[in-house]
Amino acid sequence: MKTHKIAVIAGDGIGPEVLAEGVRVLKQVAECDGGFSFEFTYFPWGCEYYLKTGKMMDEDGIGKLKQFDAIFLGAVGYPGVPDHISLWDLLLNIRKSFDQYVNLRPVKLLEGAPCPLKDVDRKDVDMIFVRENSEGEYAGSGSWLFKGKPHEVVLQEGVFSRHGCERIIRYAYDLAREKGRTLTSISKGNALNYSMVFWDQIFKEVGADYPDVKTFSYLVDAASMFMVKDPGRFEIVVTSNLFGDILTDLGAAIAGGMGLAAGANLNPEREFPSMFEPIHGSAPDIAGQGKANPLATVWSASQMLDFFGYRQWGERLIDIIEEILKEKKVLTPDLDGTATTSQVGDEVISKLRQ
Ligand code: NAI
Ligand code: MG
Repeated sequence: MKTHKIAVIAGDGIGPEVLAEGVRVLKQVAECDGGFSFEFTYFPWGCEYYLKTGKMMDEDGIGKLKQFDAIFLGAVGYPGVPDHISLWDLLLNIRKSFDQYVNLRPVKLLEGAPCPLKDVDRKDVDMIFVRENSEGEYAGSGSWLFKGKPHEVVLQEGVFSRHGCERIIRYAYDLAREKGRTLTSISKGNALNYSMVFWDQIFKEVGADYPDVKTFSYLVDAASMFMVKDPGRFEIVVTSNLFGDILTDLGAAIAGGMGLAAGANLNPEREFPSMFEPIHGSAPDIAGQGKANPLATVWSASQMLDFFGYRQWGERLIDIIEEILKEKKVLTPDLDGTATTSQVGDEVISKLRQ
């Protein structure tokens, strides 16, 4: 029997609460299937660990994680530790060290999920964002000159390499071809006269290999407007690190909220472990109260199952999330319910057993 070794970094705030449900759900899937199993190893890294040790993760944390088949992450960041430290030392460190250059974020409005858009056909909110996840505006390149002096200057550079742009755009074309859907590139070539002109050029170049894929290009400002006014225009979307970060929160808002938004950080070559996580943060405002919605985490578990090749189980979890949303009996307060985090987890498990 195949055993998948999963590193669990529950992290801070609601991270451990939602991850506990995600782990239970994956165990139940394996039990129902009978043909594979999971072995979970927990790492106590995050902001509490930082306050005790001065580090977000072990010195050789990356070396430790390397031996796993995947990483399951809750959320990191908490008041008391600056967000740029928690984000860079843990999350971005893992994404970069393991060359998880694809950030795959579904924006799909399931039946029963709340949607703030009026006059929009629900079926039109059905996109997959392919966000560049290794460089771009989040490359960490720049400098802070004359710090603290009246004439201080900061420079934050976007890094767009041919290698980095080509591989993410090619991944998106392949996905569009596989799914038989259109591909939209979102950039900003009018104002960002180096990086985004280059991005647009590579989008065209790579496209020459995919004459069968219908494409569109939008400027990011217009794209944000159309995501709200006419979301049906978007199917597979490829965009840079920063734009993808912002637009997928907008995507979460039109597809049921942060409690339903999932993401996978993939190293498609499988040279290193990939990482699966809900896209929300640690939600300090509701932490420790049993109010966190675990369905985003269940959705990211479904992405993990897809990645391991168990597509039928990945789809089953999405169907279960949709059933729960339609029935409206066991939902957390963000979806106007009164259930606790673990009651929603119980519901997913009982549906798996049916
Ligand atoms: P957040 O996503 O934690 O919370 C935003 C709002 O959404 C809050 O009102 C929260 O209660 C609600 N919310 C989020 N997830 C929810 C869930 N599963 N169920 C119900 N409601 C939910 O974003 P915020 O407040 O900007 O950041 C809090 C901390 O999390 C910060 O330290 C930030 O740096 C960190 N963060 C970490 C991320 C990660 O680990 N991937 C991503 C985003 C933020
Ligand atoms: Mg974000």
